[in-house]
Amino acid sequence: TIVILDFGSQYSELIARRIRETQVYSEVISYRTSAEQLRLLNPKGIILSGGPNSVYDKGAPQCDPAIWHLGIPILGVCYGMQLMVNQLGGQVVRAERGEYGKAALRIDDPTDLLTNVEDGTTMWMSHGDSCVKLPEGFEILAHTENTSCAAIAEHNTKLYGVQFHPEVVHSIGGLALIRNFVYHICDCEPTWTTAAFVEESVREVRAKVGDKRVLLALSGGVDSSTLAFLLHRAIGDKLTCVFIDQGFMRKHEPERLVKLFREQFHIPVEYVNASDRFLAAIAGVTDPEEKRRRIGHEFISTFEESSKRLGPFDYLAQGTLYPDVIESADTNVDPKTGERVAVKIKSHHNVGGLPKDLRFKLVEPLRKLFKDEVRKVGRAIGLPEEIVQRQPFPGPGLAIRIIGEVTAERLEILRDADLIVRQEINRQGLYNDVWQAFAVLLPIRSVGVMGDQRTYAYPIVLRLVTSEDGMTADWARVPYDLLELISNRIVNEVKGVNRVVYDITSKPPGTIEWE
Ligand code: XMP
Repeated sequence: TIVILDFGSQYSELIARRIRETQVYSEVISYRTSAEQLRLLNPKGIILSGGPNSVYDKGAPQCDPAIWHLGIPILGVCYGMQLMVNQLGGQVVRAERGEYGKAALRIDDPTDLLTNVEDGTTMWMSHGDSCVKLPEGFEILAHTENTSCAAIAEHNTKLYGVQFHPEVVHSIGGLALIRNFVYHICDCEPTWTTAAFVEESVREVRAKVGDKRVLLALSGGVDSSTLAFLLHRAIGDKLTCVFIDQGFMRKHEPERLVKLFREQFHIPVEYVNASDRFLAAIAGVTDPEEKRRRIGHEFISTFEESSKRLGPFDYLAQGTLYPDVIESADTNVDPKTGERVAVKIKSHHNVGGLPKDLRFKLVEPLRKLFKDEVRKVGRAIGLPEEIVQRQPFPGPGLAIRIIGEVTAERLEILRDADLIVRQEINRQGLYNDVWQAFAVLLPIRSVGVMGDQRTYAYPIVLRLVTSEDGMTADWARVPYDLLELISNRIVNEVKGVNRVVYDITSKPPGTIEWE
C-alpha cells in the first residue's frame, strides 16, 4: 500500500488513482494521521498531496514531523514538498513569479526518481510559492525555467519532493516518475488487479456474512450490477436482488436488466413493477423538488414492503464507492483567519439512498474502488458495455425530464423520443464522448404543419453535454447533420411531438437537467 496524506488538494484522489493504475493499492488519509498510526499502517510509501495553503500561513496544515524519521520513503507533491522543506530546515518563500500550466522539466540527475523521464518533458505546475533553500542532505534532481528546485531528493533517507503535479494528464513524464517511486523506491509489487480484487472481496464477504441473508436494490447502473455479481458469487442464494421499477426508466431498460441477470448471470431478480403507484404519487405535482421528495418517499416505502415480504434480512448491500468514504478533507484553511473551511460540496442525493433507520447491517464490497475500477471489475465479470459505460442517469429518471406534470402519455412520448436520441448518438459512435445525451419534454404546445394538416403538439428539447464530473458542463458541439437526423426522426416517428430544439446552455448558468 501507498498512503496519500491529503492536505486538501483537488488532486489527492487523482494521485491515488494513478498509483492504482500501476497495480499498487493506494489510499487517501487525513494529513493529521500521526507517525505512530502510520507506522502501524505500515505502508510501503507515503505521498504528501498538494494543498491550497502556503506553508507559512497561519494555521496551515502540518504533518507530524516524526514522519520524516519512520524510514518509509516519502514523496511530497507541491505543498507536500514545501512542507518537507519547511519542516526539515529549508526555506520556502512567495515566488517572484508563480508558475501555472505547462513547464519543460530540465533534468539534473537522470537516475532514481527520474529514471526514464525525458529531459525537457512537460510537467504541469501550479504554485505561487517556491523553495529557495534546501534542507541539509537534499539535492536538486531537476529544475524549470522559473523554478530552480522542481524536483529534490535526500537519497539516504528516501525523501523526495516535486514542485509539479505528476498525477495530472498534462504531465507527460508523470506516470514514469510515479512508477519509479512506487516500484523502485518503495519496492511495491503490482498485485492490485481486478482478478485479485474479485477473489479477495468474495472471501471477505463470505467471512463477514456467513450464512446470513443479504438484500440488494438493483438499479441498472454499473455499481449495483457489479455488486450483485460479486455477492452472488460469494454467497449464492443467500442474496436477494430486488429491482423496483418506478416506471421512470428509459425504454427497454427494465426488461433488459432483468433478462440479463436472470438468463445470462443466472442471478434471480425480484422484479417489482411499481409504476402505477409512483405515477399516482406524483400526479398533479409540478414542483421539481416536490417531485423528487415524493419519488424518494415512494421508493423507500416500496423497498420496505419488499424487504418485509421477502425477508427477514440481516444485511443490506450498498454500492458505496471509495470517493464516498475518503475521510473528507476538511483541510482548507482560510489564510487570513486560520479557520478551516469545507471544500467539498455534494451535489445530489440519489433517490436510491435508503433511510438510516432500516435496521440492517451494511455490506459494501465496492468501498475500496474508484468508479473506473468498478467499470474494470464489471467488464471483467462480463457485464455488457451498455451497463459498464452507462451515462449517469438521475434516480428520479424521466420524471424530472418531463417539465411540470408527469402523465402516462407524456412518459410514453418522452421514452420514444429519448430512444431515438440514444440510437443516433450510438450510431455516430458518440455515446462515450458525451457525458449525457437525452431528451426533455416541455408541457406546452406549439403550432406546426405536417402534410396539409396544422398540428398543435409538444416540443422536445435535446440536451447533449460534455463534462468531466457533472459539476460543470458544456453543450456538445455535435454535427448539424446529426441534429437534423434526430429532429426528423422524432417529429416523424413520435406521435405528439412536432418540434425539436437544441439546448445550447452551459452549466453554469444552466444545469444539466431541466428540473
Ligand atoms: P444538474 O442538473 O444539477 O445535474 O446539472 C448534475 C448531475 O446530477 C444528475 N442529477 C441527479 N441524480 N438524482 C440523481 O441521482 C437527482 O435528483 C438528480 N438530479 C440531477 C444529472 O443527471 C447530472 O448527471
